Amino acid sequence: MEKRRPHIFYVDGELTIRGIKLSDIASAYGTPLYVIDLDRVVERYDEVASSFRSVKINIAYAYKANSLLAVTKTLAMRGSGATVVSSYGIKVAKISGVESPKIVLDGPSKSDDDIEEAISSEIGLINVESRDELDTIEKIASRQKKKARVGIRVNLGLRAGAHPKIMTGGRSHKFGVSEREAVKLFALAAKMDSIKPIALHSHIGSQINDLSVFRAEAAKLVSIALEIHKKGLEVPVLDLGGGLGVSYAGEKAISYREFASAVTDVIRNAYEENGMSTPELVIEPGRYIVADSTVLLMRVNYVKKLGRRRWLLVDAGMNDFIRPAMYGAKHEIIPVRPREGTEVYSIGGPVCESSDVFADRIKLPMVERGDLLALLDAGAYGISMASNYNIRPIPAVVVISAGEVKLARKRDSLEHILAMEAW
Ligand code: LLP
Repeated sequence: MEKRRPHIFYVDGELTIRGIKLSDIASAYGTPLYVIDLDRVVERYDEVASSFRSVKINIAYAYKANSLLAVTKTLAMRGSGATVVSSYGIKVAKISGVESPKIVLDGPSKSDDDIEEAISSEIGLINVESRDELDTIEKIASRQKKKARVGIRVNLGLRAGAHPKIMTGGRSHKFGVSEREAVKLFALAAKMDSIKPIALHSHIGSQINDLSVFRAEAAKLVSIALEIHKKGLEVPVLDLGGGLGVSYAGEKAISYREFASAVTDVIRNAYEENGMSTPELVIEPGRYIVADSTVLLMRVNYVKKLGRRRWLLVDAGMNDFIRPAMYGAKHEIIPVRPREGTEVYSIGGPVCESSDVFADRIKLPMVERGDLLALLDAGAYGISMASNYNIRPIPAVVVISAGEVKLARKRDSLEHILAMEAW
């Protein structure tokens, strides 16, 4: 029983999720196919929740990582909140069973519709990223005769993340406002009739494996909260965003347990020393909760040698899973039924772009046409970033839960792909 992940292992030479054969699932549902272990999602969520026992916290799962109802409803049942970035996101969170006070709306360029929905749904927190946006929220809230709870997203000048495209905390990025502006906006918001400023927010980036960055984030947010306190106002909520990394290719990832013990003391002590009551926390984890739950199953259409490379041409492409093409991300890919012998392979999809490559020259057991491969850790930013590029169907998704295999999302049909066309 060779373990690849706690829940993914070989049994008698066959790759399984908790003993259920992936080859049987592929035969039943076809490929490319996402297979999510929902129990693993719950384990990861519970691990996060248990790391923060001593503080009041909203674990506002970031829907962008994976917004399938199978996932969002399961998490909502465990008590999770939701971080969303659109009006539809708010609606999906509500459909999933998340209570409005636990919904957080983020985003640097929210539409009026997004804000209308947030206010009419009375969500817990709207994180504001500009003065213009604050004025817009004030107008809409006043028209709706509501009081909007807002946070100010601060750009703390912290650059971190696995790839420049997923860093958000640097001064050159479009996110948030400066520390000085944050203090001003908070004070201004406190004077507005239809706004209640409650939080400071920051999100530095994604796939961050360095605890010191989060310590710095907490310390900086706290010092801004203290400045605001000196002006006679309180910051009862700190939203630390998401961004904790996972181990894709053996990297050392940090855990929420470490994160919690690093940041909660910094925050609690500073608040207490200044006679302020301990703030409630919000975190917005996406990847951490869903990444390792999922495999993307693909079948090998062809094997060929060209130049120095031996190619496995598979039936999944960059439209199904874009991380390698977009961020140069490396995901482990392993055969579902490993054969004898080894070979060095490159793995490419059906899309006519040279970026449509999942792996370059990796060592694998021998592979033949028709074999199944599993791409690991595909749960975050996999199906949620899939598209119909090249007129390809977005893949089906099945979940495994308590030993049962169930369809979570049908594979697109041509009818479905054409449904919105008006010509
Ligand atoms: N909060 C905000 C404001 C965010 O922008 C994000 C992610 C999250 C929370 C969740 O971050 P996480 O815990 O998942 O790191 N498509 C890229 C990742 C983009 C992340 C965008 N923002 C990828 O596949 O790596």
